Amino acid sequence: MKVLVHHDDAERWQKALASRLPEAEILTSAAPTDKRRQADYLAVWKPPESLLREPEALKGIINLGAGVDALLNNPGLPADVPIVKLRDAGMAEPIGDYVRYGLLHFQRDFDRYRRQQRRREWREHAMTDKDDWPVGVLGLGAIGARVATMIAADGFPTHGWSRSPKHIDGVTCHHGDNGLATLLGRVKSLVLLLPDTPATRHIINDETLSRLPEGASLINPGRGSLINEAALLDALGDGETEGRLRGAILDAFPEEPLPEASPLWSHPRIRVTPHMAGPTPLGEALDQVASALRTLEAGESLDTVDPTAGY
Ligand code: GLV
Repeated sequence: MKVLVHHDDAERWQKALASRLPEAEILTSAAPTDKRRQADYLAVWKPPESLLREPEALKGIINLGAGVDALLNNPGLPADVPIVKLRDAGMAEPIGDYVRYGLLHFQRDFDRYRRQQRRREWREHAMTDKDDWPVGVLGLGAIGARVATMIAADGFPTHGWSRSPKHIDGVTCHHGDNGLATLLGRVKSLVLLLPDTPATRHIINDETLSRLPEGASLINPGRGSLINEAALLDALGDGETEGRLRGAILDAFPEEPLPEASPLWSHPRIRVTPHMAGPTPLGEALDQVASALRTLEAGESLDTVDPTAGY
């Protein structure tokens, strides 16, 4: 089989995949056009439209990331070609750590102490125990479920939400519209790990933000499209006095890199990080890619992306 890799780090993926799949020919987008046309499979992260159109008899696409939004929104995406995405693949653990950092930031008042430091103000706040700090995780896919389990094990009462009912040990699971309203009313920190789909776009808006208790905080290592930015800024207030929302830690944005003119960069209650929460370590991802390619090539069935659902 011939596999064409497109990735910022394509040569590393090419080498690693070639040693994992000695039976395959692994190409990069640097290969000549006639070679690229013969590719049986694409293993890609954010490929250009032209690359998706090139292969003449494509048998499958492997998305070298967890979110398939960029691929599904690409006008060059051929219809009826199975898509396989990475599931967790070592990303959930660093994302869980990112979320832990965010939770401690608010639960241990680091945000308040930082503002106080600027004023040279020495004042200790009474500590709120973790067991009095309920956390909501929206999205219980491979990553969301793992992150919810991690923070529940840390001692935060953890609520999870998904479209359809789920069961996760140690996590109070909610589903559907009513479940979302219930969860929002109960949590001090809200974590977004939903995929970017038409159904999740701007799920964080004036209405959902107004359901959060006064002084709640938001952590988004998921997708930028989940948040209506105007509603977020409104809920955060002017930055000096605490608004309805106490603060937000954001790793994903509708446009990346976050444009220089964005008001999010300088907002005193927002922490911006450059989509770094969940890097994809090669090891586990390679195992998944190699196994998916072998399964597709053998004509066996495997878990593929549902383009209508968007994940
Ligand atoms: C990164 O954002 C991914 O979807 O893997």
